[in-house]
Amino acid sequence: MEGVSKSFGAVVALNDVTLQLPAGQITGLVGDNGAGKSTLIKIISGVLTPDSGSIQFLGKPANFASPADARERGVETVYQDLALAGNLAVWANLYLGRELTVGPKFLHVLDKRSMLSKTSEVLSRFIRNVPPIAEPVELLSGGQRQVVAIARAGAWGSKLILMDEPTAALGVAETKAVEEVILELKRRGLTILVISHNLDQVFRITDGIWVMRRGRVIGYRGKARSHPDEIVSMITGAAASAGASE
Ligand SMILES: Nc1ncnc2c1ncn2[C@@H]1O[C@H](COP(=O)(O)OP(=O)(O)O)[C@@H](O)[C@H]1O
Ligand SMILES: [Mg+2]
Repeated sequence: MEGVSKSFGAVVALNDVTLQLPAGQITGLVGDNGAGKSTLIKIISGVLTPDSGSIQFLGKPANFASPADARERGVETVYQDLALAGNLAVWANLYLGRELTVGPKFLHVLDKRSMLSKTSEVLSRFIRNVPPIAEPVELLSGGQRQVVAIARAGAWGSKLILMDEPTAALGVAETKAVEEVILELKRRGLTILVISHNLDQVFRITDGIWVMRRGRVIGYRGKARSHPDEIVSMITGAAASAGASE
């Protein structure tokens, strides 16, 4: 994205933001509360329209008008409070909005047998321990649900997955399971942007990190050439003020 700005009334959430996401990599996006991270993801995913600036995806203009528009081009989003339907079974969630039917399309006769048999296959591409696919999602643990939400985002020909704090509500073991799914998405060639407050996690799973502060991009650091202390000082502005006082 290039020169993207977005204000809410007097609040400048994004101020002339320019950044790139390397294809096939996991990129972290970090910054303090209110830095503009969620706004940035909502703009890429078509939830919000930028006031100015442009976005390109795979060499083509990508100012998506809606999340459905983004999804059609292979851009999926996973939020912390995930968008699974709790009363529906795992398989029904996987196929939500993409139901398979038998017979003439207009009759909308669901092909439950095909969906059931393909759900295990699709989920096992990404998940080692597939949860019971006939169970309502609300019976699964938070970690299992998030794993299903991410695997669903990775299915259906997706190319870019955006994640806003995917493990914020999870315990240690559940977080590890979610991180494994994220790494599997990368192994399968997807490009990933993940917002996280957990710098240990960012250094565990990402290849590089964009840092934001107060609506602006402060910089990018390749993971191998950086250190959590450096990222913290970029987040807080400690480095900038130290430089300014010299
Ligand atoms: N829908 C909205 N209406 C008004 N202000 C908003 C809205 N969304 C975000 N903001 C403001 O924009 C700024 C950036 O928010 P956000 O992108 O959520 O930051 P982050 O995700 O980094 O915590 C904050 O000051 C926030 O209060
Ligand atoms: Mg946020």
